[in-house]
Amino acid sequence: MANMTKGTAAETAGPQDAAPDNFQAALSHAAGAVDTALERLIPAAEGLHGRVAEAMRYALFAGGKRLRPFLVLQSAGLFGVDPARAIRAAAAIEALHTYSLVHDDLPCMDDDDLRRGRPTTHRAFDEATAVLAGDALLTVAFEILSDEATHPSAEVRCRLVRELAQAGGSNGMIGGQMIDMQAASSDFGVDEIILLQRLKTGALFEFCCVAGPILAEAGAEDEARLRSYARDIGLIFQITDDLLDVTSTAEKTGKAVGKDQDQGKATLVSLLGLEEARQKAETLADRAVETVAPYGPAAAQLQALARFLLTRES
Ligand code: IPE
Ligand code: IPE
Ligand code: MG
Ligand code: MG
Ligand code: MG
Repeated sequence: MANMTKGTAAETAGPQDAAPDNFQAALSHAAGAVDTALERLIPAAEGLHGRVAEAMRYALFAGGKRLRPFLVLQSAGLFGVDPARAIRAAAAIEALHTYSLVHDDLPCMDDDDLRRGRPTTHRAFDEATAVLAGDALLTVAFEILSDEATHPSAEVRCRLVRELAQAGGSNGMIGGQMIDMQAASSDFGVDEIILLQRLKTGALFEFCCVAGPILAEAGAEDEARLRSYARDIGLIFQITDDLLDVTSTAEKTGKAVGKDQDQGKATLVSLLGLEEARQKAETLADRAVETVAPYGPAAAQLQALARFLLTRES
């Protein structure tokens, strides 16, 4: 990734500088920083059980956008959190997110062959290995967070662990996946789809955005503000994922498109139509920008992200 050699994300592409070019630079810098951290934190593919680490690494190092690590680094940057700590929370969420993709692609779920521009993990390895690699990516996230290097305070580490468990659990991402699995055979309306998306996608975004104030021990008001921002951009993100499923190509997105319609899954795009779904995303972006405005220029990259999500192509 670009800029990998130039030090930490917070040092070189900090929150203050948010022209579009700088946003892209900050995003790719966060990607480089988290890749370096993951390279260190994910076990090497060695020993009799090396195949599981090989599959973990295959799934992880495949060119994901690294939006969640970017959010962690930016939310931590608002409060001057030590980047060496923030990057560990960023690595943890990217590992957990990647597990969710590996399992989401399995034949028993979305049955997909392409992810991040290459064969899905169960295709490249086998189903059992993909299940195990997903499980291991999930558990390593908690290993990373609970290590003293993440924060000297056990209370802070414990809060991060609980937040991630809740975000990834049955009332969070997994709950969203459960509703999603039922979406094809139910006639969900807008409210049900918004709940589905808030859980399936938004919950992990919430973790990313509260990781900063938690690491900084900033307090309830900052946590609430960032949670509210996260809810809006989580929804924008999922609306654009559903838009891209209709309007984009596998070459651009690195995954199969047209799946939601093929599976008869209701989305905000199928319920509202392309234009209204886009407008909804724009209204949410305006609100997200406002929500973090009290942080001033330090929040410029978070604001740029809300706008970027509206026009993303992958
Ligand atoms: C895809 O997430 C899964 C959803 C929540 C829709 P991303 O679009 O962030 O995937 P990567 O990490 O860039 O591959
Ligand atoms: C998956 O949603 C979200 C999670 C993995 C939690 P999708 O099934 O819409 O994601 P893609 O489109 O396969 O990336
Ligand atoms: Mg799915
Ligand atoms: Mg899927
Ligand atoms: Mg999708």
